[in-house]
Amino acid sequence: MVIFNMEYPSGLRSLSLLFLAGAASASVLHPRDPVPDGYVAAPYYPTPYGGWSDDWSASYEKAIKLVSQMTVAEKVNITAGTGLYMGRCVGNTGSVPRLGLPQLCLQDGPLGVRTTDNITAFPAGITTGATFNKDLIYQRGVAIGEEFRGKGANFYLGPCVGPLGRKPRGGRNWEGFGVDPVLQAIAGAETIRGVQDQGVIATIKHLIGNEQELYRMYNPVQQAYSSNIDDRAIHELYLWPFAEGVKAGVGSVMASYNAINGSAASQNSYILNGLLKDELGFQGLVMTDWLAQISGVGSALAGLDMSMPGDTVGNNIPLDGYSNWQYELTRSVLNGSVPVDRLNDMATRIVATWYQLGQDKDYPPPNFSSNTADPTGPLYPGAVFSPVGVVNEYVNVQGDHKVVAKQVAQEAVTLLKNNGSFLPLSTSSPLFVFGTDAQADPEGINSCTDKTCNRGLLGMGWGSGSANYPYLDDPISSLKRKVANVTYFATDSFPTVPTPTEDDVAIVFINSDSGENSYTVENNHGDRDSDGLKAWHNGDELVQKAAEKYSNVLVIYHTVGPVVVEPWIDLPSVKGVLIAHLPGQEAGDSLTEIIFGEVSPSGHLPYSIPVSEDDYPKSLSLVSTPLSQTQDTYSEGLYIDYRYLNKNNIKPRYAFGHGLSYANFSFSNAKITRVTPLTETPPARPSKPESPIASLNTTIPAASEAYYPEGFDRIWRYLYSWLPNAEADTAYAIGAAGDKKYPYPEGYSSEQKPGPAAGGPSGGNPALWDVAYTISLTVINTAKQDTTPGKALAQAYVQFPEGISYDTPVIQLRDFAKTGDALKPGESAQLELSFARKDLSVWDTTRQNWVVPDPEGKYKIWVGSASDDLPVVCYSDTLVCEEGVTGPI
Ligand code: NOJ
Repeated sequence: MVIFNMEYPSGLRSLSLLFLAGAASASVLHPRDPVPDGYVAAPYYPTPYGGWSDDWSASYEKAIKLVSQMTVAEKVNITAGTGLYMGRCVGNTGSVPRLGLPQLCLQDGPLGVRTTDNITAFPAGITTGATFNKDLIYQRGVAIGEEFRGKGANFYLGPCVGPLGRKPRGGRNWEGFGVDPVLQAIAGAETIRGVQDQGVIATIKHLIGNEQELYRMYNPVQQAYSSNIDDRAIHELYLWPFAEGVKAGVGSVMASYNAINGSAASQNSYILNGLLKDELGFQGLVMTDWLAQISGVGSALAGLDMSMPGDTVGNNIPLDGYSNWQYELTRSVLNGSVPVDRLNDMATRIVATWYQLGQDKDYPPPNFSSNTADPTGPLYPGAVFSPVGVVNEYVNVQGDHKVVAKQVAQEAVTLLKNNGSFLPLSTSSPLFVFGTDAQADPEGINSCTDKTCNRGLLGMGWGSGSANYPYLDDPISSLKRKVANVTYFATDSFPTVPTPTEDDVAIVFINSDSGENSYTVENNHGDRDSDGLKAWHNGDELVQKAAEKYSNVLVIYHTVGPVVVEPWIDLPSVKGVLIAHLPGQEAGDSLTEIIFGEVSPSGHLPYSIPVSEDDYPKSLSLVSTPLSQTQDTYSEGLYIDYRYLNKNNIKPRYAFGHGLSYANFSFSNAKITRVTPLTETPPARPSKPESPIASLNTTIPAASEAYYPEGFDRIWRYLYSWLPNAEADTAYAIGAAGDKKYPYPEGYSSEQKPGPAAGGPSGGNPALWDVAYTISLTVINTAKQDTTPGKALAQAYVQFPEGISYDTPVIQLRDFAKTGDALKPGESAQLELSFARKDLSVWDTTRQNWVVPDPEGKYKIWVGSASDDLPVVCYSDTLVCEEGVTGPI
């Protein structure tokens, strides 16, 4: 049950939030609730300066030149948004026009430019993950980047790699790529590269522990839940994709809403200063999630660089002109509470990121509005009186992106079951199609804002991760284009049908939806708290009934994540099952070309499909303790999804990585090569060079730098960084007298640290990425002539040596490779896999480093086409590979 739904929706539908005005006025920062023993967010101060990584030094050099000319109000102005609905984009920073720094536009979301027109609605993250195709994931990133740039958005608020998908019911797992840190990491990094190669700043989110939607936000009456995660699980699971994103050069990171080990993510010095900026050596900027900032000075000291959208909900409400930063940050710098060097660092990180992505050269300004579809309207819809002007220019940014969108949707389609040679179907079979999920929403493809209804085809989940469809190629239209004899029953209750003949084929479309907690859909509060892992709209019953009647049934499942298929999977007439994930706009031909055998399916499950949800430990359930802080304790440690099932010998219905093809693949010629010999701990990290931030002036600036310009005409509720003269003077006097009153957090220090042993520039100690081993192997399509060619996928899982002193999951995915082309029968291809030092290490919580437990030991690297189908094994000690073996599961 949600008590308050504090998330704002898009557009201006959120003014109902104002009902909380009374509650807000008395609010103060909540004291922290105790967390269970052993879960710590140790203080880590100060914020490590940016600018010490070679790959960023040219951008920092330029940024320092610019920031050194800025007044305090100018520096502050770029560290926060101008307020909710105070500009065209979902977030709009302040600008420094005097020095040529424009307002920056921040826009959702991971699968395409949100709340606008003339874009591509790409397949969702979970669909993208299911392709297991690195190059294709990069190409999708390129196309997304081109669209964000074309619309004039400086920031892409994606990719989403947190949630990792720990909870099968979690609402936003579909925005990410699958329940495995390496799959998330590789897909996240490829997306970042694709997007950033277009000059758009990617924002990897949400750091970390946002594994549940319910109770995710702080609000005036309740604290967000605390994700209590141990140090090893943080490193080996949840932080892993972020590390890979930082290594890929991501410009920006979004902190999560929730707390981690008791401390709010947006002001958690352990996570932001310690893990992200020192250990991972992140050089870009950290922003809050929307309205997640709950303190001014505290968050600045803890390493936050940008507050979005500028206003706050933690101790006040949005849209009343209140901000924790902007004019308040200016005041805090003048009165000495926030050290000037911290402000210098924030501003420089932001400007450096802008240079790093080349946005100082020919970057277009926004040409769309995420507030309205009208051509003109208020420029600041959140203001009571706003100037009016052109807000939408309807720029078409689609290019030929539908090609890559379709390719992703298609390569994701995962064949779970195919009795005999039921699939592919012949286009001459009479088809009887059931389920509203086969057709576009009859009330309009974008009739529900942010996809907050599950009506018709499920092409994406709901919330800020959705986008408008420009069009929707729905499966029923595509089926009708290909087959003469199609009868469609647009209903989810089984209708009366003519008596079927032997040849008749029933295709049943069902789905399972979820989204963001900003909305409730059919009693699901973001998470699938009501429907669980069942099909919505009695879909399981629809399949059962169809299976009673017809002897040939194909089930098509559009789903946000794992579903339980037990009610019907073993029914004899259910002969084929395809998971089509969330395909976006290209839902039709991408699917039917597979159904009719023009293309072979090559998607693989990015999660396990359990027999029952109860097969997972209790700690993976949704949790809530209304009226106090919910403690979400990750007591399962490393054991989520297949890691848990394997450890406990629980057989899922379909294992992680499962996915059949019309082709038949066989692996041979496996060779393992040692590249860099391993030692127990990595070679020493490079020392941290002095950051150029240290060269910036740190004296408290003159009060006059903060004065409102004379005669300035303010817009009510718009957030400015200036102060009235008298307030600036008072603050300055306090600062000059050294009289600041701010109680600095426990463990506060102003001395820059050398950085932890595991740390290093842009991702951590570079030695962690030394390639330790590679494996090459041949894959051949052994299917009989005339079967549809197919793409083969090799998944590689590491099993740690026996007898080591660390508990490790039976197997863990570490790399994968898909053939570039579909292989015809008899054709073969070479696949290469590679394993870095980090892949063969565990995080040692005592040594606080990545440790190879037994460098001379026998690592087994299993290769095959699913986590339970691993017929090849290579050994790290003897450098021998065996084929035709039985896998470890
Ligand atoms: C909240 C969501 O959690 C985040 O992912 C999104 O980018 C922001 N809102 C902005 O819409």
